[in-house]
Amino acid sequence: MSVQKEHVIEVLRTVQDPELGKDLVSLGMVREVQVTDGVVDVHITLTTPACPLKSTIENDVRAAVMRLPGVQDVRVTFDANVTTDPRIFQKLQVDVRNIIAVASGKGGVGKTTVAVNLAIALAQEGARVGILDADVYGPNVPLMLGLDQKRPTVKDGKIQPLEAFNIYAMSIGFLVPPDTALLWRGPMLHSAIRQLFTDVAWPSLDYIIVDMPPGTGDAQLSLAQLTPVTGGLIVTTPQAVALMDARRGLVAFRQLQVPVLGIIENMAGDVFGVGGGEKAAQELGVPFLGRIPLDPEVRKGGDTGAPIVVSRPESPAAQALRDLARKLAARVSVMSFQADPDLRVV
Ligand SMILES: Nc1ncnc2c1ncn2[C@@H]1O[C@H](COP(=O)(O)OP(=O)(O)OP(=O)(O)O)[C@@H](O)[C@H]1O
Ligand SMILES: [Mg+2]
Repeated sequence: MSVQKEHVIEVLRTVQDPELGKDLVSLGMVREVQVTDGVVDVHITLTTPACPLKSTIENDVRAAVMRLPGVQDVRVTFDANVTTDPRIFQKLQVDVRNIIAVASGKGGVGKTTVAVNLAIALAQEGARVGILDADVYGPNVPLMLGLDQKRPTVKDGKIQPLEAFNIYAMSIGFLVPPDTALLWRGPMLHSAIRQLFTDVAWPSLDYIIVDMPPGTGDAQLSLAQLTPVTGGLIVTTPQAVALMDARRGLVAFRQLQVPVLGIIENMAGDVFGVGGGEKAAQELGVPFLGRIPLDPEVRKGGDTGAPIVVSRPESPAAQALRDLARKLAARVSVMSFQADPDLRVV
């Protein structure tokens, strides 16, 4: 019996995207089906190239289609069309699909480290990523990316972002003379953050990761006023005070109506123990996205402009960061579908 394309599509209606909780056909994820004799090619468009469930989906598709009589083999291929937060283009007229802010209740917990490595990890999966350093008090994204000796150029009136490790980067540190930031008042900060969005020639991007200054001050307020923020990540440490820190970050995001994507526990290990971030997430009722171990190589990578996901990709810390990048990407997709249940992927 010859296999019909319609039958394949029918059977794909029984395969769900585990995270979005709907079948692949209704989600618009089945981009193409081809039947050549007994061999079925299925092309699936994912909501992010960093999809953590790609292999689950592949196996489910294969198993479902193989059950059709006459099918000898199934080949599954993927691409991705990242979900868009439509408010960003409406407000800023930039072609950026999602903006993610990385924040913490207190300083030194590893926000910048996490922001830089997550951005690179997303790019490694095939996403188009930018990083925006909004930490006027300690703009060290350029250092961590090895760009601290560079200066962006201006072309046609727009600041050109720098590039490193396949991501685009711009820092508030490039806009202001060093050591003057502490004298800044809210309005100056506000206009500098605005410039970082509107005066920079950002290319089309799936994600911009914003590295925030520590705490919950003017920068958070300005960011939320200037641009829709798709979601916020809270970085904390394993210590007992993590709960208090994380709560501060959470309250700030909630007041600014920024949805919280989850909490990340950084520097987990012997010195500080493990678990503060997870416990905080439980008590605060937000997703716990995972933990990154304390590893001197992480610091070394940051100091030398060779982030750990590049310099030691097989280390547990790098693996944890890649895992977090996928979870983050998946949460963003889920949020897009929650915001618009009729959304289709293609
Ligand atoms: N998992 C880790 N293991 C070891 N060292 C780490 C880890 N994460 C971050 N660090 C180091 O801790 C220090 C603080 O990290 P980072 O600058 O990323 O924190 P931050 O929260 O951005 O700080 P600030 O609040 O000043 O902006 C850096 O020297 C960094 O290399
Ligand atoms: Mg920082």
